Amino acid sequence: MQKIFKKLPNHIGIIMDGNGRWATLRGLQRNLGHKEGIKAIERTVLACQKYKIKFCSFFAFSTENWKRSDEEINGIFDLLRDYLNKEDNVFIKNKIKIDSIGVLDPFPKDLQKALYDLKDKTKNFDGLTVIFALNYGGRDDIVRAVNSLIEKGIKRIDEKMLLNALDTKQIPQPDFIIRTSGEMRISNFMLYQMAYSELYFPKLFWPDFKEKDLIKCLKEYEKRNRRYGGLK
Ligand code: IPE
Ligand code: IPE
Ligand code: MG
Repeated sequence: MQKIFKKLPNHIGIIMDGNGRWATLRGLQRNLGHKEGIKAIERTVLACQKYKIKFCSFFAFSTENWKRSDEEINGIFDLLRDYLNKEDNVFIKNKIKIDSIGVLDPFPKDLQKALYDLKDKTKNFDGLTVIFALNYGGRDDIVRAVNSLIEKGIKRIDEKMLLNALDTKQIPQPDFIIRTSGEMRISNFMLYQMAYSELYFPKLFWPDFKEKDLIKCLKEYEKRNRRYGGLK
């Protein structure tokens, strides 16, 4: 494939927002927006693979999303479980490795099993890694990491120790964070990890996100000059 980007992010983090509004605007139930949102995940995963992105994480359920109605929450769980369980799975078919961050215990057992099975089946793939953030919160990640260090008897921590205790210990820090829907906030996504991430807020609802929108995002990233506090 022709090289179309001068530089690419190694890890893209996506805050998929706007499923509910996408549905409401059409007079549909919010869960139909989540259903369309899954299709957008699939399109984006395939596009990431095409453009040789190494890591793509999707914020799928936050530690605060438990505040929603049981109907919506259970609808999201059903959709995710069925998607991960699908026979002709896009991840297995395309040799994409699956990983997750966040605390899975409170999820229904069948959803946990679907995720663990898929992680196991894809663990040796080494092209693109897709990470689902599930019951994930940036603050919760930091608190759990610090507690895990305390439990090991550590009395003082440094930045490297903390980084290596976060859920993302096996995953590089995100270079580029994309949030759809027009909201310009982070909503407790990878707080510690995004200290120097480039941020971008395309104004469309997540279910409308297509390959051409990812290309637009990557073109935007290409223009960014990352200085990390220095001069370049
Ligand atoms: C994002 O879409 C999906 C999740 C948070 C699970 P929303 O459901 O937040 O959609 P809006 O923001 O209400 O439109
Ligand atoms: C952020 O979206 C969480 C996910 C995309 C999973 P929200 O819709 O929950 O965020 P707020 O409530 O608008 O900040
Ligand atoms: Mg939202």
